[in-house]
Amino acid sequence: MKILAISGSLRAKSSSTSLVEATRLLAPPDVTVTVYDELGSLPHFNPDIDMEGAVLPLVVANLRRMIGEADALVISMPEYAHGVPGSLKNALDWLVSSSEFPGIVVGLINPSHDSFHANAALTEILKTMSARLPAEASVRIPLPKRGMDAEAIATDPALADALRAVMETLVAIEPRERW
Ligand SMILES: Cc1cc2nc3c(=O)[nH]c(=O)nc-3n(C[C@H](O)[C@H](O)[C@H](O)COP(=O)(O)O)c2cc1C
Repeated sequence: MKILAISGSLRAKSSSTSLVEATRLLAPPDVTVTVYDELGSLPHFNPDIDMEGAVLPLVVANLRRMIGEADALVISMPEYAHGVPGSLKNALDWLVSSSEFPGIVVGLINPSHDSFHANAALTEILKTMSARLPAEASVRIPLPKRGMDAEAIATDPALADALRAVMETLVAIEPRERW
């Protein structure tokens, strides 16, 4: 089982990134979690480049390959002005017409106590892109302290249990090639 974990924040001390890194630390032995680290390197999406026969930028081709190899995705992101961070939306735009994305199972981890607009928007985007979003894997896991790193999250029993539960839900679902 392979999970690709994407943080929608480019901030060095991002809580979203710490959460996806903690997911990697907590993965059971039969699950490999890879944290995507090229979000900030993707070019702005341009449909002129995303055409039959066009040569995709390497970083875009790499994203599609990683999506194709993953059985599930985990996304955690901040809310920016009630919306999805532009860098994450840009990555998703590169995946809209890809053959690798439809049917993929997605877990959403909302790191905030109170934001909900961005998660609702992301859910709508992902459903439009034919992702599968099991309700039990769309969770709010607010961090009790500011600046918690991945190790601090992974060693907090309540946070670790919540992240493990997301992975257990994703692992239990049929991957898209058998869907
Ligand atoms: C430009 C900007 C816009 C933001 N807009 C919102 C917002 O609309 N709602 C909200 O709850 N938080 C908002 N925030 C706060 C971030 O969501 C919050 O700081 C989040 O924890 C940052 O995530 P990160 O630690 O993963 O970078 C905003 C922050 C920034 C920088």
